[in-house]
Amino acid sequence: MNLILLGCPGAGKGTQSKVLTQRYGLAHIATGDLFRAQIAQKTALGQKVEGYLKAGTLVPDSIVVEMVAGKLDESSSGWLLDGFPRTLEQAQQLDKYLKASAKQIDMVIYLAMDENAVVQRLTTRRSCASCGELYNTISRPPQVEGKCDKCGGELKQREDDLESTVRKRLMVYEDLTRPLIAYYRSETTLHEVDGNQPPDKVTEQLVALVDSAKVAR
Ligand code: AP5
Repeated sequence: MNLILLGCPGAGKGTQSKVLTQRYGLAHIATGDLFRAQIAQKTALGQKVEGYLKAGTLVPDSIVVEMVAGKLDESSSGWLLDGFPRTLEQAQQLDKYLKASAKQIDMVIYLAMDENAVVQRLTTRRSCASCGELYNTISRPPQVEGKCDKCGGELKQREDDLESTVRKRLMVYEDLTRPLIAYYRSETTLHEVDGNQPPDKVTEQLVALVDSAKVAR
């Protein structure tokens, strides 16, 4: 099963991807997480991309495509793409890769979100520095302030979740990523789920969609 989860910053892609990949045994290929791991490890790739993430702009397509292709090669039992593709060029490169490796996308799901609500969702997001678990000081606060419920790790705010950077990321999304909705509508069936609902409701609808795709295979 190969899935793509599309949506603006803060639509809930990361939150829902964690649930879906666990439930269906898929590799979670989240380009933002991969870049943040490289930055934390101070690798050459991390140094190359750090400025883009800090500024809320996109990493050049060639760098992203090369990194994702490596991850797809490693994932033989299905994957979920979270945060990729993000430009038409990335989508076309992915199509080429899939054709060459006789693989296909089973489902593209667009997590629709009222972008006015995104700024509040992202400026109140926190994540565990040790295990990556996601929290929100309003919609999903931890039991003990600043500590992860799962592993006791320290909760941190992402550098690009400052309000001015969130607004920049939304502008970049509008310009470069929103056109992918029309692209996938014309290439395949694009399924839409309302990401403004409570997380459990969103999960329920995503699971129903993915189950229907499994039955149809
Ligand atoms: P990336 O890490 O991919 O960030 P993003 O796409 O902007 O998405 P987010 O992680 O901010 O949001 P999300 O949709 O995952 O929401 P989440 O579930 O966390 O990319 C970061 C950067 O990396 C980019 O700016 C770029 O520089 C670079 N990059 C990455 N991929 C790239 C690519 N392909 N090409 C070029 N550059 C790339 O939820 C957010 C918050 O809301 C959380 O606090 C959560 O608890 C809460 N929440 C979630 N769902 C709900 C709900 N239903 N109701 C209430 N609260 C909710």
